[in-house]
Amino acid sequence: MLIVAHRGASGTQPENTLASFQKALDADATAIELDVHVCRSGELVVIHDETVNRTTNGKGKVADLTLAELQNLDAGNGEKIPTLQEVFDLVQGKAQINIELKGKHTAKPVADLIRQNSIENIWHTEDFLISSFNHKELKRFHKLLPEVRIGILYNYRPFFFRTKARKLNAFSINLSTKVVKAKRVERIHKNGQQVWVYTVNDHQTFERVSDTGTDAVFTNFPEQFV
Ligand code: G3P
Ligand code: CA
Repeated sequence: MLIVAHRGASGTQPENTLASFQKALDADATAIELDVHVCRSGELVVIHDETVNRTTNGKGKVADLTLAELQNLDAGNGEKIPTLQEVFDLVQGKAQINIELKGKHTAKPVADLIRQNSIENIWHTEDFLISSFNHKELKRFHKLLPEVRIGILYNYRPFFFRTKARKLNAFSINLSTKVVKAKRVERIHKNGQQVWVYTVNDHQTFERVSDTGTDAVFTNFPEQFV
């Protein structure tokens, strides 16, 4: 079973920060997951919410703040909100990266950044998985960079997953623990996709999800499950 560090090792470190990604690397997680938005000055920044209110000491929408303003904020324990490039520079191909397109208009800048970094030989397109609950944004990404793997995220049952998987040439269907069951995993496998399940933070849930034949789990505690 593949272990994906959800927002890094976010159970013990401030989520989506370099400290949380470093801890995930120290735990030998196969992959890290992170969320991206575009800020006012145009850079891709790694943060889950549309606003900085929950995870930092600031207030306001990410889209209304410049990178300088965002990086002045404390994202927990003195950590800053990182750019996606800063995370690439930290990870340097030592783990795969699952980039969740959380914000609007993220497909193109993410495709551009992956292309740019892949030229430099540290990163390869197969090191990435791009996912989103916004399937239109996934479609935009797939058109721009079809060689990069796509994970279709569902917050409930995976309606029309066969049609969507075909259109996006999807690598995985990413499901919540609430809806994962052996029969569903079997149907998805038969269709040619892996099943990645979020978010597994205790051993009882880990056992239950493992028993369904799931390929990967997202966890806030990679150090407990690797
Ligand atoms: O990709 C799995 C998981 O990250 C999706 O939910 O809200 O944690 O971004 P969320
Ligand atoms: Ca996410």
